[in-house]
Amino acid sequence: MTDLIRLSRAQVGADELQALARVIETGYLGMSVEVQSFEKELTEYIGDNRQVVCVNTGTSALHLAVQGCGIGAGDEVLIPTITYVASFQAVSATGATPIACEVNSTTGFIDVDDAAKRITPKTKAIMPVHYASGFSDLDKVYDLAQKHNLRVIEDAAHSFGGFYKNKRLGALGDVVCFSFDGIKNITCGEGGAVVTSDLEVANRIRDARLLGVERDTEKRFSGQRSWDFDVTEQGWRYHMSDLMASIGRTQLKRLPEFSSRRQQVAKQYQQFLKQHPNLHCLDMDYDVVVPHIFLVLVKQGGRDHLKSYLEEKNIQTGLHYKPNHLLTLYKTTYALPKAEQIYEEFLTLPLHSLLTDDDVKRVCEEITNWVNLK
Ligand SMILES: Cc1ncc(COP(=O)(O)O)c(C=O)c1O
Repeated sequence: MTDLIRLSRAQVGADELQALARVIETGYLGMSVEVQSFEKELTEYIGDNRQVVCVNTGTSALHLAVQGCGIGAGDEVLIPTITYVASFQAVSATGATPIACEVNSTTGFIDVDDAAKRITPKTKAIMPVHYASGFSDLDKVYDLAQKHNLRVIEDAAHSFGGFYKNKRLGALGDVVCFSFDGIKNITCGEGGAVVTSDLEVANRIRDARLLGVERDTEKRFSGQRSWDFDVTEQGWRYHMSDLMASIGRTQLKRLPEFSSRRQQVAKQYQQFLKQHPNLHCLDMDYDVVVPHIFLVLVKQGGRDHLKSYLEEKNIQTGLHYKPNHLLTLYKTTYALPKAEQIYEEFLTLPLHSLLTDDDVKRVCEEITNWVNLK
């Protein structure tokens, strides 16, 4: 049997172990100076002097971003139906209603014209998802938001490391949320960050990540503990730990290496798929996009067959994601035909920074073998 080619995996090793040991030796594993340093390093990396607040997952980054913008029960948030359920859950966790929108068939990004049609007096925000790391119509999203006075909360869970308008992703935009979970472009084990220039929103999120305990962040960063404190708003236990931050700090240094490998692999797949008229990929510029996942769109049927064929050949694949409007909790009374069609066609191919050229070649050869079978 040939070796298993994994769909995704983290690239972690001696450097991360050393960073963890540094924290373990201090005897304090919670949130303190490592998180403070990670936030500072992320601010420097992203540029434009942005506020960065680190939390324990990308989902909690999104939840706190929605809450921090003052959105809750009775409000509506526009969101593409094809995204991980985390984006929907982050909205509904605040009491607000996620309004499922159509996606663009060639990019997978939110269909901004469809979103515009779903605006009501209750709409308070739009959450564009950087699906498969792309952010093609982000300008259009901001135009729509400006016209209707909406907050924009970008779900950038997939896209850390990319460039938008010659700046690092996160440098621009209203509120941008990243994920550092176990298989993302960089990892903290689990983790996430909210990035914004809105100091009021950032400070609300800083308190809300520590159960709403007022200014607890500042105290922890100076090695103190809040004993006599006040709480004025609902908070959550969502802060990042020093253990997680120590891994994240190491990973941030290694990002250029990870990004260029991910981009190379995606470009190889893109090039390969041009040979096959019934196989497509999303329209992405991998000079500025750092891909977290890579999708092949299998036209004219056969996606499930290709999936089982590759699995028989010991090549893992994925389905990112079932449209949320088809889930019981978020079922809509309306159809979203473009998203439903993509859902029938897409298959996620292996992509991570440890994938070798031989691995990519094997995936491509097996896809060609499958095409020739038909
Ligand atoms: C599009 C999207 N948004 C949000 C999240 C949530 O991130 P996390 O796993 O860090 O909670 C994910 C995770 O995979 C995701 O894919």
